[in-house]
Amino acid sequence: MKTQYFTTPIYYVNAKPHLGHAYTSIAADVATRFRKMTGQETYFLTGTDEHGDKIVQAAEKQNTSPKEYADKISRLFQDLLPALDVENSNFIRTTDPAHIKVVEAVLTKIHDSGDIYFSSYEGIYCFGCERFYQERELVDGKCPDHGTAPQKIKESNYFFKMSKYQDWLIDHIKTHPGFISPVKYENEILSFLKEPLEDLCISRPKTRLTWGITLPFDKDYVTYVWFDALVNYISALGYPDGDLFKKFWSGTRHFVAKDIIKPHGIYWPIMLKAAGIEIYNGLNVHGFWNVKGSKMSKSIGNVTDPLEIIKEYGLDPFRYFLMREMAFGLDANFTEDILVTRINSDLANDLGNLFSRVLSMTVRYFKGEIQEAHPGIEKDKNLSLAPEASKTIEDYKKAMTIYEFHKGVGAVWQYIRFMNKYIDTTEPWVLAKHEDTLPVLETVLYNLIEGLRVVSCLIYPIMPGTSVKIQKALAIVKKENEFYSLEEASVWGQVKKGTLIQSPEILFPRIDTKRKTEYHFG
Ligand code: MSP
Repeated sequence: MKTQYFTTPIYYVNAKPHLGHAYTSIAADVATRFRKMTGQETYFLTGTDEHGDKIVQAAEKQNTSPKEYADKISRLFQDLLPALDVENSNFIRTTDPAHIKVVEAVLTKIHDSGDIYFSSYEGIYCFGCERFYQERELVDGKCPDHGTAPQKIKESNYFFKMSKYQDWLIDHIKTHPGFISPVKYENEILSFLKEPLEDLCISRPKTRLTWGITLPFDKDYVTYVWFDALVNYISALGYPDGDLFKKFWSGTRHFVAKDIIKPHGIYWPIMLKAAGIEIYNGLNVHGFWNVKGSKMSKSIGNVTDPLEIIKEYGLDPFRYFLMREMAFGLDANFTEDILVTRINSDLANDLGNLFSRVLSMTVRYFKGEIQEAHPGIEKDKNLSLAPEASKTIEDYKKAMTIYEFHKGVGAVWQYIRFMNKYIDTTEPWVLAKHEDTLPVLETVLYNLIEGLRVVSCLIYPIMPGTSVKIQKALAIVKKENEFYSLEEASVWGQVKKGTLIQSPEILFPRIDTKRKTEYHFG
């Protein structure tokens, strides 16, 4: 059985986590939970990136040391995970001694093989990005990300011969479809690679920066923060000899947003190639969340705290919204309005209503006792909800396997809406009025309950809490931390006749938009 290793970027500890960080972590969690459902063994890594100028500057502002500052912010990122129901296998910090050792080993290996050289360099440098820029990359003479003018600096530094591997990388990307996905980001990298690749400056003199990993071959320099950070993906698995590395590395998929495709799509595969390490399997690139149509920024004041949203609207609605609203790869817009609309229409109206109608009718018409379907009637009246369930599972599996979460969720919701329509057309309240249509009613309700069971299994990666709530109500819940595999979900007819169910709780309370006059976010 093939194993699967998912990672998020390791987040900078210069500011507390926001909506964007929460999204990537939840997306990787959804992918991991889905893979588990398909029977794969998974490992899921996230963590914090703690060296470099950015952290020093943030710590200085707070009158504290970089390490103390990193400890404090890293804790916020760690504490966020359980609050998001993200089940990571490991949390790495680049200040961990074990990580530092691996960075040193990789540097030594590449240095020994002759791919790192010492040279003097004069260039324009953005302190915000912590990297040199080419004139042609600037917008009106300013850094495209920070909008500030980069400074001219001249120093002697160590360089990594990336240019040597340019043709190899182009060939690797072209011969490995899906290496960078969605394909528009692969095209972006390939078009960038049409220009000659510059060698990468991988050191910073200690006269300028000391908060980093000292180069193993020159104690006057620290390692460039990206060269240190990218190595986290293998150091966390205990490279080179760790069992986890042997077991999981070949099934690696990195989740990142479009802001960091260059380090992941160019530096990282070349670093691996130069160090003689197998190239990772793939990169999943998603777009950016804007808030009220603008990029999140402190100056606009729209940096959105995921914990605040969860406090107001609940965790599962938040996870659902993120997966449903963003087409993986494209940008999406967050406003409280859009969130509330999704909660009211998709959750309260579609899923919440279906759950409540099916359970209430079972309670009302059969004192809560689940009945059985009558095969003859089911066939004659074309009442089976099984064929549509199989089609849903197929569409869902296809989309989730290629990380198109919005489509996976969309397939499930199509089924939910199909079942709500089925209730409207079969009119169980009419069937309940006459003794001779009771077997039809039993068949209808059994199909609805089975359909609901399938839905409860499929929403597990996206809304684990709600999945369990529905399964509890149907008395089919598994032991804690267990879940239904996709194969189990597909077997129709698992709910047992005679099972007693209770009056349903409200899954998702409707948000009264008339009464709610004030929004807090965005
Ligand atoms: N430390 C580097 C990553 C090193 S990985 C070896 C870094 N850190 S970061 O804190 O800036 O995180 C960037 C990542 O956070 C993005 O790639 C994305 O995963 C997430 N996001 C940050 N802002 C985001 C949005 N506005 N929208 C969606 N995701 C965003 O870069």
